[in-house]
Amino acid sequence: MLHILGLGNSVLSLTLSTLLIAFWAMWPTKKWDPRGQFCYVTGGSSGLGLALAVALTGRGAHVTIVARNEERLAKALAEIEANRQNPNQILRSYSYSLTDPEASQAALGAASEDHDHKYPDAVFLCAGAATPGFFVEEDAKSMQKGMDNTYWIQAYTALAYAKHLARKQTQGKLVFTSSLLGYMSLIGYSTYAPGKHALRGLAETLRSELILYNSSVHIMFPGNIDSPGYEEENRTKPKITLEIESTDRPTAPDVLAKELIDGVRRGDFHIAPDMLSNIFRSSTMGATPHQNVLLDAFYAGIGWIGLPLWRRSVDSKVLGHREEHKEYLQTRDFFKSTA
Ligand SMILES: *[C@@H]1O[C@H](CO)[C@@H](O)[C@H](O)[C@H]1NC(C)=O
Ligand SMILES: *[C@@H]1O[C@H](CO)[C@@H](O)[C@H](O)[C@H]1NC(C)=O
Repeated sequence: MLHILGLGNSVLSLTLSTLLIAFWAMWPTKKWDPRGQFCYVTGGSSGLGLALAVALTGRGAHVTIVARNEERLAKALAEIEANRQNPNQILRSYSYSLTDPEASQAALGAASEDHDHKYPDAVFLCAGAATPGFFVEEDAKSMQKGMDNTYWIQAYTALAYAKHLARKQTQGKLVFTSSLLGYMSLIGYSTYAPGKHALRGLAETLRSELILYNSSVHIMFPGNIDSPGYEEENRTKPKITLEIESTDRPTAPDVLAKELIDGVRRGDFHIAPDMLSNIFRSSTMGATPHQNVLLDAFYAGIGWIGLPLWRRSVDSKVLGHREEHKEYLQTRDFFKSTA
């Protein structure tokens, strides 16, 4: 009897869950489609920004890229043009310095002129740069530059765009690019990780605030990206940081661009493009919305066991480097300097 009851229960629950899944699959979820949308991509002349601009163009969006270097912009625009899907697509590039608040606003204004003064339907903030180094070798100026190139370079555009959404009572989409180093940090990233953590705070605030204008906010947390920026930061990266990172391979920008678009299409707030970022996402979730409660618990479980072990191995690598670090500082005349 008990046995039969148990069987009946499993059949019942199986049927119910099948029905639920079928119902869920049939539910018409309206996914965001970039086709015909005006997409604005900062940092769009190289790396992730360029890959994203190309991918959006390939999906039929109108794309405007903004970056500083005109030569790289021209090259990037040619690449974007090569992916044009139809003659109506408006594809443009603008050179502005996005670490400046007025220029950030002016860039949005200039881009909107190509669209009858309509602002972008979606703003993708991919601009940013890292200059790794030891904290004790930084100064006030380099620390401020670090915040400029991580936080302000995205926050100023977000501000100008949000004001526009509120003034025009219109809806939009705002997508930030943080980093795995916006979830955690390690030796060498004292001028990078703080700004990337700050972006998480800003995105969380704006997710809550911009629902007033029916607008959505997203933020991606990629690891190292195989890009010109990565090669650039490699030049100042401390040896110990390179050593700790020696096992991870940078991800191709087009892979990340696809993950980013897919995440936005699904409506994910935090976009974690791979297993590792999902582990950090689930382990540092706070009040961030879940994506899949069960899967998130699984990732958090892996993090609960794996992250303390990982941290211990990093700490022991750092400590194993103590003598070499002291010698390095000596060669830099660090001990003689008073500044
Ligand atoms: C947001 O949606 C609400 C409800 O559909 C609507 O009344 C309001 O006008 C919309 N506001 C904006 C800024 O789109
Ligand atoms: C970064 O620098 C290290 C050490 O100089 C080198 O082995 C590595 O190939 C470099 N990687 C890139 C992407 O430039």
